[in-house]
Amino acid sequence: MQGSANLNLMIKAARKAGRSLVKDFREVENLQVSSKGPGDFVSKADREAERIIKEELLGGRPTYGWLGEETGGADGEDPTRRWIVDPLDGTTNFLHGLPHWAVSIALQHKGEIVAGVVYDPAKDEMFVAEKGAGAWLNDMRIRVSGRRHMIEAIFATGVPFGGRGTLPATLQDLARLMPVCAGVRRWGSAALDLAYVAAGRYDGYWERGINAWDMAAGMLLVREAGGFVSAIREGDDPLEKGAVIVGNGELFEGFRKIIRGE
Ligand code: IPD
Ligand code: CA
Repeated sequence: MQGSANLNLMIKAARKAGRSLVKDFREVENLQVSSKGPGDFVSKADREAERIIKEELLGGRPTYGWLGEETGGADGEDPTRRWIVDPLDGTTNFLHGLPHWAVSIALQHKGEIVAGVVYDPAKDEMFVAEKGAGAWLNDMRIRVSGRRHMIEAIFATGVPFGGRGTLPATLQDLARLMPVCAGVRRWGSAALDLAYVAAGRYDGYWERGINAWDMAAGMLLVREAGGFVSAIREGDDPLEKGAVIVGNGELFEGFRKIIRGE
C-alpha cells in the first residue's frame, strides 16, 4: 500500500523497536532458568523499545503530543495530534518466552485514530491501516471474516489477572458466550487480538479494563478491514472507558447482545 509519510514513519519506528525486542527476547529465553527470572530484564527491554519509538516519532514530528505505556502523556505544541504507543503489548508472553507479542503505534488527530500499526516481530507480521485507505498485512489487503453463524465463530478476549476488578464480569461473559460459539481464545496481546479480527482470523474480540495504548491502533485496523467497533456499554467511548467490543458485520450485533447480557 502507498502509505502517508506519517504511516511510513510509524512503520520505521515499529521495525526499529522490533529489532531491539527480538534481540532481548532471545536473551529472555536463556534467563528462564535463573532463580531471579527475567523480570527486570524485560522491564528494561520494554523501556528501551519505547525510547526508540519516541526518538523516531518525535524526532520526525516534534510538535505532536505523546501517550506511551512506559512514559505516560505529554502535550505537544500541536494540540490536535498525538501518538499513542504500547512498545510491548503481551509483556507476560515475552517474559515467559512465548512468541506472541507486538509493538502498537497509533496516530490520533482531533480525537480520532487516523493511522495504526501493530507489528509482531517474532512472526514478522506488520498490520497497518489508515483512515479511508483500508487495512493491510505485509502489503496484502485484509478483511474481517464473513462468518455468519455464532456456533462456527471464534472470539478472543483478555481475562483479567492479578486480582483486577473486572474478573467477575468477564467470567459471566464467558458463561454466556462459550456455550453458543466455537471457542474463545486468550492469547495475551490485545493489539494482536484486534489485528487478528481485522485479518479474519478471529470473528470478534472484547475486553474490559484495557488502556488506550492496547487498542488504539487495533481499533482502526478492524474498522478499515470492514469490521464494527464500539464500547461494551452503550454510548461510551471505548478509548476513554477501556472496554471494547469488535466483530465482523454479520455477527457483531448478536455478539454484543450476548456480552451486554441483553
Ligand atoms: C496486556 C495485554 C493483554 C490484555 C491486558 C493488557 P501488556 O498488555 O494486551 O492481552 O489482556 O489487559 O494490559 O501489559 O502486555 O502491555
Ligand atoms: Ca498493552
